[in-house]
Amino acid sequence: MGHSLRAAALLALVVLSVLVSLLITSLKQFGSGSTRLSNSTDQEGLASLRSALDLHLRERRKEILPLLLHPDGDKDRVLEEVLEQNYGLDSSLWNEVSGSGKAHRDQMGCESLLDVRAVEVLGSGYTKLVVKANLAGGQSVALKLVNEQGIDMSKCLEDFKDLQGCRELVSYKLQKEMLLLQRLRHPNVIQLKGHCSGLQGGEGVEGGRVTVIMEQGTPLQMIQLLQTPWEDRFRVCLDLVRLLHFLSWSPLGSVGLLDFQPRQFVIVSGQLKLTDLDDVSTEEPACRTDADCVLQFPHRNFTLPCSSQGVCEGLNEKRNIYNAYRFFFTYLLPHQAPPGLTHLVDHIMNSTGELKANINQTLEAFERILLLYKSGIHLDNLHPSILRDYSVMRDMSTSGNVEYRCWPSYSQQGCVLSVHSAREAAYICNSHSHCSSFSLTGQKTWTGRLLASFRSSFGHLVPEGGSEVYLKKSKVPQPPSS
Ligand SMILES: Nc1ncnc2c1ncn2[C@@H]1O[C@H](COP(=O)(O)OP(=O)(O)O)[C@@H](O)[C@H]1O
Ligand SMILES: *[C@@H]1O[C@H](CO)[C@@H](O)[C@H](O)[C@H]1NC(C)=O
Ligand SMILES: *[C@@H]1O[C@H](CO)[C@@H](O)[C@H](O)[C@H]1NC(C)=O
Ligand SMILES: *[C@@H]1O[C@H](CO)[C@@H](O)[C@H](O)[C@H]1NC(C)=O
Ligand SMILES: *[C@@H]1O[C@H](CO)[C@@H](O)[C@H](O)[C@H]1NC(C)=O
Ligand SMILES: [Mg+2]
Repeated sequence: MGHSLRAAALLALVVLSVLVSLLITSLKQFGSGSTRLSNSTDQEGLASLRSALDLHLRERRKEILPLLLHPDGDKDRVLEEVLEQNYGLDSSLWNEVSGSGKAHRDQMGCESLLDVRAVEVLGSGYTKLVVKANLAGGQSVALKLVNEQGIDMSKCLEDFKDLQGCRELVSYKLQKEMLLLQRLRHPNVIQLKGHCSGLQGGEGVEGGRVTVIMEQGTPLQMIQLLQTPWEDRFRVCLDLVRLLHFLSWSPLGSVGLLDFQPRQFVIVSGQLKLTDLDDVSTEEPACRTDADCVLQFPHRNFTLPCSSQGVCEGLNEKRNIYNAYRFFFTYLLPHQAPPGLTHLVDHIMNSTGELKANINQTLEAFERILLLYKSGIHLDNLHPSILRDYSVMRDMSTSGNVEYRCWPSYSQQGCVLSVHSAREAAYICNSHSHCSSFSLTGQKTWTGRLLASFRSSFGHLVPEGGSEVYLKKSKVPQPPSS
């Protein structure tokens, strides 16, 4: 039973791999032909290449070992011995040891990939290829595999000319990411659903056939995001800060993201999630003097203090904050911030751009903005009398609408904006020369604010429970007074 299941899983993986290769447009030829050396005088060179590669493989295994140690009691004797001896791990010992880091029982394994339907490429990077798969139950997931066409593989093949060995080397990054995802669970980290390492002994990690199963998202499109309402751009920044706060105080210590770019994130149901976790640092660098603790960025350098224990304290956190500032906040935060909140936004821009605030203070500042924005306190200067210019029709909506566009609207066709209250909507309508009415349908944004639809005119009113229409008196033809 177990064997047929494994065989079937392997078959599914093979089918998947074939599909994946077909989907890659720029399929480059390489493999057994180019990696097997025909020149017999090169045999010695090959052997020395192999031992150089073995060295790298051992380094990668050693790097992963600490992550295999589970903090919750259940310590593994073999693993501890290996760590103590600082053993040059060969792959059979590795398989024995890494077996202890197996998926939890609630996770998906190879069997869930048995009946994989429709495959589509979601993205790829230097190391990994990410494809969408529809599982038997109809659930969509993202599968991460070694990117055979990626820079990591090409460089390794160029250096070592060993397809199998290179797959193994690169798959350790996938393995590391999986272990980090297990330990760093958070709403703003992509959810790990399981993994499949092919067959034990033979294939598996050794064969470089690791598939990580995770929730599916949509790659972050910065250009698109720039065109969305401030409320949505603020959400991305807030999510990022919540993530960085978690990483600073994580179970693994302060985690620094070394490859911090928008493309390492995806959106799942409007929420920002970190998906690329293989290139992180869980240790602060050692130092002798402050000069050893320099954070370098293209337009800015920072020198941090070297602590009395000889580590650059807080370096990971500071690097994360500045990267958040330069890749996210500068593009997403200041532009069209609500008038009553601009001073708070400016303050965040300055304190993160100058690394004056730590992550706790930064998170506090963001949560405060969220609170104010939700409560509408920042609108206190809008006088209630502003609504006197409007007549209200409750449980009504409009039909035969003449729309006008505004920017940035929640709807392509018309002008749909989020408001705290009818009062704020009236204020907006007054500032749009085309506006003669607006309606509130009860639809809400992620902060709980109301979506208001602004119009220049409409055919007639129709009954609709829960919806309200506000007509601007000065723009409505007055019925003849009797
Ligand atoms: N869960 C996911 N859902 C959708 N797309 C994803 C997911 N994870 C990653 N991607 C996309 O795949 C790309 C490559 O994944 P990533 O883990 O960053 O690989 P690499 O380490 O090679 O950069 C990402 O830039 C992202 O666009
Ligand atoms: C074989 O290797 C030798 C030494 O590396 C080299 O001089 C020779 O050109 C190679 N021959 C072929 C056919 O690649
Ligand atoms: C940052 O430091 C590097 C190395 O010392 C130096 O070359 C570079 O000019 C500095 N950049 C800025 C903006 O100060
Ligand atoms: C922060 O404010 C100071 C003083 O106004 C200014 O000189 C500096 O350029 C600002 N820094 C950033 C990153 O906005
Ligand atoms: C920052 O927040 C963390 C987690 O909430 C907390 O443990 C820590 O004490 C705080 N640190 C400071 C300096 O406020
Ligand atoms: Mg990436």
